[in-house]
Amino acid sequence: MSPSLQRKIVLVARPEGEIKDSDFRLEEGELPETQPGQVRIRNVYLSIDPAIRGWLNASAGYVEPIAVGDVIRSAAIGQIAESKHEDYPEGTWVSGLMGWEEYSTLSPQHTLRKIPEKPGVPRSYYAGVLGGNGLTAYLGLTFVGKPKTGETVVVSAAAGGVGSLVGQIAKLQGCRVIGITSSEVKARWITEELGFDAAIRYRDEDVVKELKANCPKGIDVYFDNVGGMILNDVLTRINVGSRIVLCGAISQINESELPPGPSNYIRLLTKRASMQGFVTLDYAKQWPEAAKELAQWVRSGKLLVRETRRHGLEQAPAALRSLFLGENMGKSLVQICEE
Ligand SMILES: NC(=O)c1ccc[n+]([C@@H]2O[C@H](COP(=O)([O-])OP(=O)(O)OC[C@H]3O[C@@H](n4cnc5c(N)ncnc54)[C@H](OP(=O)(O)O)[C@@H]3O)[C@@H](O)[C@H]2O)c1
Repeated sequence: MSPSLQRKIVLVARPEGEIKDSDFRLEEGELPETQPGQVRIRNVYLSIDPAIRGWLNASAGYVEPIAVGDVIRSAAIGQIAESKHEDYPEGTWVSGLMGWEEYSTLSPQHTLRKIPEKPGVPRSYYAGVLGGNGLTAYLGLTFVGKPKTGETVVVSAAAGGVGSLVGQIAKLQGCRVIGITSSEVKARWITEELGFDAAIRYRDEDVVKELKANCPKGIDVYFDNVGGMILNDVLTRINVGSRIVLCGAISQINESELPPGPSNYIRLLTKRASMQGFVTLDYAKQWPEAAKELAQWVRSGKLLVRETRRHGLEQAPAALRSLFLGENMGKSLVQICEE
């Protein structure tokens, strides 16, 4: 039986710029009754994603914003604690769109994916490499980046949840891979442990100069997680027919006034290159196939996974903020209770 009260974090004010503690409130409230057709999930792992920051704005892009007063929406992993839906019995582990709350009560159709009873990998991986991060990396690279063996692939936020997988998948496809990241520690991790061919530290190095040195044959695929100046710099080295996967623009999610567009965009014309927006949700049909291949790579040790984990529901706002400070390596998670 689940308790009658729970803790949850709600949005108090829409943030302007960087998020502050005062934008959120930790509340205790009554759990709603589980209605016929619904399940109650005991959330264990919250997936901390840059997208959550976008959902806090009045206009959130391609999904509904989070309303002021509502619980913060978040992908999560949890176990069904109470069920009034015959396909989702108590004890089933699921991943889906839940919230920064101890329990989520919802109708499972379209929102939940079941996690195998004995997954053979840590369950938290279903929030990362076998969840949104892995699918984004795999599908964005495969269907938009379309890398071929021997090509040069550049990825930004290269030591993050998505970026660290993009680089490894491109290596598995026989590409030369350059990662752009902030720090020496991250640069060493992606080159020495993940097998990237080189890393560029955008805070300390001249990105254009380093791209020239490390991509002697130019760039065929750029997987863009950050936008801004780094995108502008990468455009200087793209090849004829190159593909840019526009996956995210974390450098500007916090900005209320958007910066001027990339001045080097004309390179797209001279290089007959394409830059395509990519949304993982659009590839739902390909998820099972992608998830299967990702799981095989993880189990065989071809894909290495790292998590940055905080403990306690109250840590969720700080974990979200830390993405914008570059404090995470690999997937960022908050574990709110023991499995
Ligand atoms: N299109 C889709 O369907 C989809 C789905 C999922 C995710 N995404 C996008 O994929 C990207 C990566 O997401 P993730 O969950 O894997 O996050 P993440 O890469 O694990 O974390 C964010 C990273 O971004 C970097 N960063 C933060 N501020 C930056 C800035 N101003 N300039 C440059 N880099 C900055 C930091 O790495 P450094 O320390 O290296 O700077 C930080 O660790 C995000 O843009 C996200 O919105 C898109």
